[in-house]
Amino acid sequence: MRKPFIAGNWKMNMTHMEAAIFMQDFHYDMKNKNGCEICICPPFTALRGIKNIIDSDKIDVAIGAQNMHWEKSGAFTGEISPEMLEALKVDYVIIGHSERRQYFAETNETVNKKVRAAFAHNLKPVMCIGEDIDIRQSGKAEEFVLSQLAACLDGLEEKSVTGLTVAYEPIWAIGTGKTATSKDAEDMCAAIRKKISSIYGPDIAEAVRIQYGGSVKPSNITELMNMPDIDGALVGGASIKVDDFLAIINY
Ligand code: 13P
Repeated sequence: MRKPFIAGNWKMNMTHMEAAIFMQDFHYDMKNKNGCEICICPPFTALRGIKNIIDSDKIDVAIGAQNMHWEKSGAFTGEISPEMLEALKVDYVIIGHSERRQYFAETNETVNKKVRAAFAHNLKPVMCIGEDIDIRQSGKAEEFVLSQLAACLDGLEEKSVTGLTVAYEPIWAIGTGKTATSKDAEDMCAAIRKKISSIYGPDIAEAVRIQYGGSVKPSNITELMNMPDIDGALVGGASIKVDDFLAIINY
């Protein structure tokens, strides 16, 4: 059985001080986790502060970064390395978010390098894939997403893939309030699992967690989580509001 996995991607929101206040409110109000694994992905500047609060207050929540470089160190001004995240004892790292692909020229090739680097540094990648509105309307969404998946997984070993989370995030649903229908989201997540099975076999496909992301909110999470191939959510806007994020966890 795959444990439901709800992650909050804060994107470029919250100072380290606001993040500390969020964590205290969140912890105070979090009565139970509804059997979910929870992960918070703040900006880099808040990682250390949040990690300290999690450790000192023994909060059972994982922490993730939103991006990283694939090299261990070097002349890459402005970048953060996997080694730095590993040293901070970060659990997860989001790789290849559509905003990174759209605004920062990330490609399937860089995503592949980053996913490999994450595994090499004991970080669990949450690898994002998803189509834009033109591809969806052309009827080629599945073909596109599965080719992204194959390219991003290129050459990855079986034993790594078991620890992978795939986030299916249709770009047209991100920050738009327009969620994919639970059927469309399930159809794509099932296709992703089938493709993983065709590459790595059914046991690994059964172990990999697949999240849906794109305008997830308290009002639509239950329907999404009732789908057999949707194992969790990657939540943007609603994850920076304590009440909404807790309501999503307690779907
Ligand atoms: P929203 O939940 O704000 O649509 O963002 C989704 C997302 O991009 C999570 O990574």
